[in-house]
Order: sequence, then C-alpha cells, then structure tokens
Amino acid sequence: MKFFIDTANLDEIREAYDMGVLDGVTTNPSLMAKEGITGDAKIKAHYKAICDIVDNNVSAEVIATDYEGMMKEGRELAKLDDKIVVKIPMIKDGVKAIKQFSAEGIRTNCTLVFSSGQALLAAKAGASYVSPFIGRLDDISTDGLTLIEDIIRIYDNYAYETEVLAASVRHTMHLIECANMGADVVTCPLKVITGLLKHPLTDSGLAQFLADHKKGNQ
Ligand code: E4P
Repeated sequence: MKFFIDTANLDEIREAYDMGVLDGVTTNPSLMAKEGITGDAKIKAHYKAICDIVDNNVSAEVIATDYEGMMKEGRELAKLDDKIVVKIPMIKDGVKAIKQFSAEGIRTNCTLVFSSGQALLAAKAGASYVSPFIGRLDDISTDGLTLIEDIIRIYDNYAYETEVLAASVRHTMHLIECANMGADVVTCPLKVITGLLKHPLTDSGLAQFLADHKKGNQ
C-alpha cells in the first residue's frame, strides 16, 4: 500500500519523507491557499520544491474546468517534473482530458469522486489514480469506506489498471480499513501516519525494558 501525504506544507512533507514511508504527495487548491502559495510562478515553484523532496507521485491540480484549459494547464504542470501527476476534477471535460493525457503518457489523478459510477468513468478514461473522498462522504452521513470497497470490486471485475487512492482520510481507522480492503493508496494528513505508531503497550513495554536494562548497567 502506498502512503501519500495530503498537504502542501514542506516541513510536514519532509517529516513524513524522513520516516522512510512516504510514496507521494497530494495537494489541492485549498491546501495550496492554506500555505499562502498564490500566483502562477509561485504555485509552480512550490510544486517543484515538493518534487525535490519526494521520490515520485506529486499530484498537482488544474484550476481550469474546460477541456482546452485543463489540457494547457496539465501539460505545463507535467513539464515541471516527471514526478507530477495531473489532478483533474470528475466533470465531463475532465473525463475527456484524462483520456487525452493518458494517450500522451501524462499521469492523472481523477479527484472529487463520490460514487462508483464516477470511478468507473475515470477508469475507462485511463486515469492513473482515482480519488474517492471518504471523509467528505462520512460528513454527510454516507459511508465513505463502502465506496472504496465497491470501487475495488468493480475495478477487479474488469482488471482496470487505475489505482484506488483513498482520499479525504481523516483518522487512522480510515487508513487501516482501506488497507483491509486492499486500496492501492491512501492520502492523509501527517497526524494519521504518525498516529499508526501509537500503542500504550509499546510505550509501557519500552519503559519497562529501559528500566530493567538500567538496573544491571549502572
Ligand atoms: C486529496 O486528494 C483531496 O483533495 C483531499 O484528501 C481532500 O481532503 P479533505 O476532505 O480533508 O479536504
């Protein structure tokens, strides 16, 4: 299972990368705005800075919502670095753009996916990744994890190569359930990755080991 970090914060990306378990980064326009990254030149420089930290898989989202605009923006983003995955919204022109990017060998991440029908369209268009948003479904009292399960089954039925990237992951149990179901990737905040470390028996066990060692090694 790949772990992506869902942030545009360079310190958090470095911290996750330094743990040795990071496979990529997802950003979106809201996450870029949160870091105060504005204007075309600064946005592109920031994506490049992210690419310089991690080994691969940096999702950079287009702002255009028409086919021509998405193609222009996506090609520019892809030129920044081989690690860039162009993030395209699940809309009609987006599906068309994903198909064309796929023909051009440019990797895509189809975002804002909330149903298995949308995920089927993304796979048929040749998306590299599909991003179903678990947390936002949970927010409206709809089980996000069931959607992940359905998409995995549908993709398995037809051997689609599109990878299921569980997004809008809010806590460690989301991540663990996605792993149980066989999701290819999760993207989540740093706290969800570091949250996996925690167990009280680990802490008390380590404290005991160190105390016992100290007794015989004064
Ligand atoms: C990542 O690709 C998505 O943009 C992100 O996971 C959305 O997460 P949120 O619902 O917590 O904003």
